Amino acid sequence: MICNSFVQHMHDEVEAGVITVGLSAVLMDISLAAVAVSRIVNRNVFDSLVMVPETVNTHGEKQHRLDMKAHDIFVSFLKKGKRCNYLISEECEDTIDLHNDLYDDSVYTVCMDPLDGSSNIDVNVSVGSIFSIYSQEWQSKAGLTPIKSGQEQRVAGYVIYGTSTTMVITFGTGVYGFTLDYVTGEFLLTHPNIRLSKSGSSYAINEGNSEDFPHQIREFLAFCKQSDFENNLPYKSRYVGSMVADIHRTLLQGGIFLYPSTSTHPKGKLRLLYECNPMAYIIEQAGGLAIDGMRPILSIPVLKNHQKVPFIAGSYNMVKKVLNLYSNES
Ligand code: AHG
Ligand code: MN
Ligand code: MN
Ligand code: MN
Repeated sequence: MICNSFVQHMHDEVEAGVITVGLSAVLMDISLAAVAVSRIVNRNVFDSLVMVPETVNTHGEKQHRLDMKAHDIFVSFLKKGKRCNYLISEECEDTIDLHNDLYDDSVYTVCMDPLDGSSNIDVNVSVGSIFSIYSQEWQSKAGLTPIKSGQEQRVAGYVIYGTSTTMVITFGTGVYGFTLDYVTGEFLLTHPNIRLSKSGSSYAINEGNSEDFPHQIREFLAFCKQSDFENNLPYKSRYVGSMVADIHRTLLQGGIFLYPSTSTHPKGKLRLLYECNPMAYIIEQAGGLAIDGMRPILSIPVLKNHQKVPFIAGSYNMVKKVLNLYSNES
């Protein structure tokens, strides 16, 4: 079976005018960095035999050694690729200026979660990387206008480092999946048109926070658990604790993923720019829905780099049920 390679697919999309040469160059840098991150993820057990002091990131989260290693790999590939101008990373408080001034046609900004689900990595559970790419016509770099909302994304994607390393991506013309062939080091097209079923049979949420959930979420969870076999209820509970893994399962099998506001995270835990917006773009492009409870994620005004929002996304009919619970209130 011959699968189209990611490189070939990029050429096709440039030729079709779906993406620019510049965007394809940034994407190539991200895909090469993802191969390198996949290798350090697979070597984690060996490398963790060497003790390193624990660190804390800008969010006050415990930082896994690989959080920073993955961050450094993406910075290095994007810098050397000379095409990406700015990087907003979970692991850095401020926007990174990569000082790539070789071209003066477009300015590219990548928003990135270099390693998602890192608390799972030492127990061999799937982790990932999540990214968004924005492009603006080149004015003076000082004239870079800030990102207004996720609707401006040109590309969104994630890489899941699991039983396979698969990169899922959208340019706004559907959702594609490419799986890493370790023999050739190439990503090959394995999921040419990912579509999200209108309904599903599983829900993903950290129920340990149930007492804190808004009552609309508690009502929805009560619905998920009732015995009504004719309507395919109760739903199965599936929660990995790595957003990339929970979203990948939801995308491929249907279902709903929820990270609502809690007492420890009153605005939600997931970050708008490099977790919620890219995942929302992919979910919507596959035919699903992504909201904060009341609003589409992609319409939420971006106020700062590490802004957090509640996130509910997945099969259209399931998320619509949550949206109705909120809108009946307003
Ligand atoms: P990150 O590892 O990039 O900081 O993200 C962790 C996030 C996300 O992957 C996951 O959905 C969520 O944390 C799980 O949070 P809880 O452990 O609170 O359920
Ligand atoms: Mn983190
Ligand atoms: Mn994350
Ligand atoms: Mn992370």
